[in-house]
Amino acid sequence: MRWVESGDVRLALFEQGDPAAPTVLLVHGYPDTHRVWDEVASLLEDRFHVVRYDVRGAGLSGAPRATEGYDYDHLAADMTAVLDTVGKPGVHLVGHDWGSIQGWRLIGRPGIEERILSFTSVGGPHLDQAAHFVRHGRPREVAGQLLRSWYIGAFQIPVIPELVLRAVLPRVMRRSVRAAGRPGHPADTLVRDGLNGLGLYRANMLTRRGTPAEPVSRTPVQLIETTRDPFVSSALLASTRLWVPKLWHRRIPAGHWAQRSHPRVLARMIAEFAEHVEGAPPSRELRGDRPGRRGPYDDRLVVVTGAGSGIGRATARAFAAHGAEVICADIDLGAAGRTVRGIVAGGGTAHAQQVDVADATGMEEFARTVRDRYGVPDIVVNNAGIAVAGPFLAHSVDDWRRTLDVNLWGVIHGCRLFAAQMAERGQGGHIVNVASLAAFLPSRLLPAYSTSKAAVKMLSDCLRAELAGQGIGVTAICPGFVSTAIARNATYVGELAEGTGKPAGRALAARGYPPERVAAHILRAVHRDLPVVAVNAEGKIGYALSRISPAAVRRLARLAGGEISRLANKH
Ligand code: NAI
Repeated sequence: MRWVESGDVRLALFEQGDPAAPTVLLVHGYPDTHRVWDEVASLLEDRFHVVRYDVRGAGLSGAPRATEGYDYDHLAADMTAVLDTVGKPGVHLVGHDWGSIQGWRLIGRPGIEERILSFTSVGGPHLDQAAHFVRHGRPREVAGQLLRSWYIGAFQIPVIPELVLRAVLPRVMRRSVRAAGRPGHPADTLVRDGLNGLGLYRANMLTRRGTPAEPVSRTPVQLIETTRDPFVSSALLASTRLWVPKLWHRRIPAGHWAQRSHPRVLARMIAEFAEHVEGAPPSRELRGDRPGRRGPYDDRLVVVTGAGSGIGRATARAFAAHGAEVICADIDLGAAGRTVRGIVAGGGTAHAQQVDVADATGMEEFARTVRDRYGVPDIVVNNAGIAVAGPFLAHSVDDWRRTLDVNLWGVIHGCRLFAAQMAERGQGGHIVNVASLAAFLPSRLLPAYSTSKAAVKMLSDCLRAELAGQGIGVTAICPGFVSTAIARNATYVGELAEGTGKPAGRALAARGYPPERVAAHILRAVHRDLPVVAVNAEGKIGYALSRISPAAVRRLARLAGGEISRLANKH
């Protein structure tokens, strides 16, 4: 630790890592100290020269006597003094909470702007942007943000906040970070820091208001949105792009103190961005979050199983058409290759992989290959499936085994392996499991198939509940009849054994519901994080009926058999 003089205040400065390496300057918020960054700093120190300081009024640093001592001019003087002491021509600035709020102001300030190579903002918006949002945002969204920011108004009242903070702050802070509490955070100086830091709110909240017509700065900015932040709403941050021309907007499914709850994710994002600004090629994620990106799936990594035909192929194409990089997996490598060639010919990015989803070891190897070669997928569509049709008494053990192995175990393997990767990465994701109308509509001719699909639907509901806390969505897609090759490829047993494939295939084709429409539902379900999506008329009616009248559904299950047999005999 060393001291830095800034006017009448002495600041405590902390450095680690190789001073010759690029410098990352981490600025803490209210009511924290430099120690809120402990984990992130130690994750960065092998590649960066990491600099932190206690902001005036906090931790070991001195405090100004008057409230004016906390205004932007004094904060700018502090940062200038720190930059002078560090002696680098440029640093990568990272600000959290008030560290981010002051960062936004200082990256546009002559004398400092030129010395900031990049700015990463976490949990603290530009206050001009916030004021503009309050005046021009949608009333409901503005009301939501104001509710989150009630304390800012309260902090303007004299004396009372001091009394309240003295009484409750230690308890509130300790409770909010208790889960990950450790020595140093919250700091022993918490009450003093909290009382002093009121000056930040009082000296800076009522300053000049700009408009988005004036870009705040030309500095490259990485906005890391913590999607569960109780203080900063997504609606408020959505307009950040209007304020800085070079913005990368990324998200972590975390609360306000992401540096405590998700240090590895945050450190990785800080490092990736700084290295990119220093000249390294962008990671796939950074490409996806670049300024001017086209849509929500730009450069997202998507895995689709059974991508060689039907719904899987249409889904792979749809994601690729929206900018995603798609891994097309299928037991039939030639078919997966054809899907990939189609995507590449259309200007998209895709790769073919052979895998039998029923094979546990094969799926483990597949998941490893995906992670090592392309990264952790953002979206996984467990779509591969087969059908065995005929009466229960005609199903052999092998018919059951293969159906459950592919349709259920294939989904279990896909969920298990890729959800684990997503959870470890800590940036959320989405899993889509393709079930079927058969998940809730029994049929005497599809006992194994329907059982497997009902299990997939239930598995999806269970998994959704478990992964919600980690920002990973799970959707069960339940289509009715879709015009694909599934009926032609199906195995027919018992009374359906003889030559049923062709007519059943023709009947499915005649239904005239293309797999592309299912794909569109899948993209929408991911975008909106929907739990269950019944697709097409029979899918929706079947789903509704199964809830309104299970008895009617059971009667339908008997009729369906006769219908299919008649169809088979007719042709
Ligand atoms: P499809 O037969 O056209 O395509 C299935 C693809 O999965 C094929 O490319 C096949 O090679 C691949 N596949 C089969 N077993 C595999 C395995 N063990 N490992 C990896 N890949 C494998 O069928 P469709 O219709 O596109 O089916 C996709 C999913 O949609 C299935 O889960 C199916 O049950 C479901 N579904 C289909 C409906 C329909 O009417 N077509 C209705 C409701 C659900």
